[in-house]
Amino acid sequence: MKMHKDEKIWLALSFGLMMIFMLITGYQAIAEGMEPPSNTDIIDPQKVDQTAPFDKPGIKQIGDKEYEVVMTLQVFSFNPGNIEVPAGSTVHFILTSKDVVHGFEIAETNANAMVTPGYIQKVTQKFDKPGSYLVLCNEYCGAGHQAMSTTITVK
Ligand code: CUA
Repeated sequence: MKMHKDEKIWLALSFGLMMIFMLITGYQAIAEGMEPPSNTDIIDPQKVDQTAPFDKPGIKQIGDKEYEVVMTLQVFSFNPGNIEVPAGSTVHFILTSKDVVHGFEIAETNANAMVTPGYIQKVTQKFDKPGSYLVLCNEYCGAGHQAMSTTITVK
C-alpha cells in the first residue's frame, strides 16, 4: 500500500505536535516538582483527625534541641496550644487547617505562614531567647478570629 504524500506530511505534523505536547507536559512535571513542599503536600481537610501525622497532634523531640510540632488550626484555636521548648531549640512546625484559611505568625520572629485547608504547611523556627512568644492567627477566619492565639514558652 502506497501512502499519499499529503498523508505523510500529516503524519509527520501530528508526530511533531505529539512530541511538543510531551515536552510541555514533561516540563510542567519538572516545574511542579521544584515547587516548595508546602504546595505539594496535600491532605483531605475533612479527614485531618484520621490522617497521620495529624491524628496525633503534639510536640515530639526529634534531636538535640530539635523538636517537631504537629499542629492543627481550627476556628478558633491551635492544637496543641501553650507548648514549651528549651532555649536554643529548633522547632519544625507541621501545620494544617481543619476548616478555613488561618494564619500562623509567631510574634518577634520571622515565622509567618498561611495555613490553607487541604494543604500541609511547614515552618521551621529557632528559639534562642527565653520568653513567651505569642502565636497569632493573622488571616481573618470568622467571629472569633481576634481571640485565636496561643503561646510558645521558651525556657
Ligand atoms: Cu484563625 Cu483568624
